[in-house]
Order: sequence, then C-alpha cells, then structure tokens
Amino acid sequence: MKEAKISRKKFLQTLAGITVIPFTLMAGISIHKYQNVTSTKILRLKKPDSKGIFFIDEVIIVNSNNELKVLSSRCTHLGCKINKSENDIMVCPCHGSAFSGEGEVLKGPAPRALRKLNYNTDMETGELIINI
Ligand code: FES
Repeated sequence: MKEAKISRKKFLQTLAGITVIPFTLMAGISIHKYQNVTSTKILRLKKPDSKGIFFIDEVIIVNSNNELKVLSSRCTHLGCKINKSENDIMVCPCHGSAFSGEGEVLKGPAPRALRKLNYNTDMETGELIINI
C-alpha cells in the first residue's frame, strides 16, 4: 500500500481552514441575531405640572403653552446625554451643541434635531407612556 504524502505546510493550511469554518459560521449567526433585535423600551413618567424643560432619565419633556413635546436626551452628534438648558435652549455638555425647545439644532456640531418620541397618556393615572 502506498502512503499519500502531503507537505507539512499543506497539512497546516487544511487544518486552519477546517478550524476557521465553525468560528465564521458562529460569528455570522451571532451578528444575524443582533441585527434582528429591535429595542423598544417603555417609560412611564408623571406629566409635569408646570411649564419648562424637564430632563428625566433618557427623556426630555418640554412643556410649553399647554403643548407637550417628548424628545430623546441623546445628542445627535455622538450620543451624550443632554441634561441642562439655558434660557430655554438645551445644551449638550460634551461639545456644546444647542437645541431649541422643539429639538431643532441651533448650533452644531450636532447634525440633526433631537429624536421626537411617541407617547400616550394613561387616562387613569395621567402618566405619560413613552416609547424610547
Ligand atoms: S455629543 Fe453632543 S455635541 Fe457632541
């Protein structure tokens, strides 16, 4: 019987190929799983009684002239949490972007307005039910 000879280099290349395939498949499956995840978080907050800008958790509530706006507190530049206002202008603490009470960009580097969040009002408790 004649033995088939393969070089050490060829053997190692084959072994590496066989070893890489399962890891590649596992990585592909993991990425696919995370791509399908849609995160919807619901937050229940007390509706503010007074006019003003309120920073609560990941949310900014702007209560002006009986009109309520709910915005994401994540800056559209690099995602810092906006947590203060000066003269009804919301200012990002990281790089100084400024936003109006509507969430529109007044000063960059933020490229776009703050994200408006959908909400409903719980008729029994009066709480805001906010989809983040
Ligand atoms: S993260 Fe807000 S200005 Fe940069």
